[in-house]
Amino acid sequence: MDSVVQLVNRLQSVATKLGDNAATAKDGGLPSLWDLLPSIVVIGGQSSGKSSVLEAVVGRDFLPRGTGIVTRRPLVMQLVHLEDPAAREYGEFLHNNRQKLYDFAQIRDEIEAETNRFLAGKGRAVAPDPIQLTIYSPSVPNLTLVDMPGLTKVPIDGQPRSIVKELDDMARTYIKGDNAIILAVTPANADLATSDALHMAREVDPAGDRTIGVLTKLDIMDPGTDARDILEGSAVKLKHGWIGVVNRGQKDINQKVPMGEARSRELEFFRGNSSYRDLKNIGTGFLSVKLSNHLIGAIRKQLPVITHSINEGIVNLEKELESMGGSQVATRGGMLHLVLQLCRQFEDAFAKCVDGGKNGGEV
Ligand code: GDP
Ligand code: NA
Ligand code: MG
Repeated sequence: MDSVVQLVNRLQSVATKLGDNAATAKDGGLPSLWDLLPSIVVIGGQSSGKSSVLEAVVGRDFLPRGTGIVTRRPLVMQLVHLEDPAAREYGEFLHNNRQKLYDFAQIRDEIEAETNRFLAGKGRAVAPDPIQLTIYSPSVPNLTLVDMPGLTKVPIDGQPRSIVKELDDMARTYIKGDNAIILAVTPANADLATSDALHMAREVDPAGDRTIGVLTKLDIMDPGTDARDILEGSAVKLKHGWIGVVNRGQKDINQKVPMGEARSRELEFFRGNSSYRDLKNIGTGFLSVKLSNHLIGAIRKQLPVITHSINEGIVNLEKELESMGGSQVATRGGMLHLVLQLCRQFEDAFAKCVDGGKNGGEV
């Protein structure tokens, strides 16, 4: 388990180093390395509990949640495991010069502020452009998580009609890659047959290989009903099954009930309920374990492709260096000389373009 966590870190750092040079599709038709690494994407109807589920997986309060369209741009979160168990955890936003934020309430405020800034600038209600957040913590596994705006069948809150298709397209973009593990979030207090998440997951992943069903709001079903048949897999079959969870309700959010207390209440709920007590696939803890296992499997399957892509990238970079006459350069001085030479060549070529080289390189 730990070795796989390390592996993801190493791959991610290699991918970052090779960057646009080696890993893009333009040369060898290879996909970006980032596209080869698995991610977990949460989809579902509005207010089905997507943001709540992701927060529970991370074990921290930092996502905007609420009853309206609260999540209005995708949020791509890279969780980075810190080895030192005493290390202080923090988050960094790409749009914010990677300034370290140690206060998770501040992270939530920044997600909201950046969402508003961006959308107001574009005059739009939702946008597919992601907010990029990295969270460093000793208590998270290494994972990429994507929180998505909710799916909807009818525009609400005075939104334009086009929003329905926009939200649909956006979700598909994030879950269509073979590496996306889809968390299809469905509230237990609504009809499963109308689940937007389930419909889309089945279309995009018909075999169900990378879909995990998450059933939320088990605590607020109609009295006298339960979701045991779904959790047992007898109502709606999913290859990897369903996991039942209980997150904080709006009142708990308003009263700022802490995450730890929410988790013990969840445990209490399942223990005290004869419909669920004996089931294995319940609770946020089980969801985390299930996700880790799934992720490890996904990485194992991808390893040959990832290795190939990295090698290809290195070969391409070496070829490029060779074509610049740089393959023999080993010292810093040599590199500087080469760079100056290349600058000079570029300047000459540029001058020729502008005035046929009449001014001897002076532009
Ligand atoms: P999203 O729009 O899908 O991201 O959903 P949110 O996570 O923002 O949650 C929407 C609303 O549902 C909030 O008011 C949450 O408090 C509430 N909620 C989410 N999960 C549960 C749950 O398991 N039980 C209860 N009672 N409320 C929940
Ligand atoms: Na919501
Ligand atoms: Mg949300």
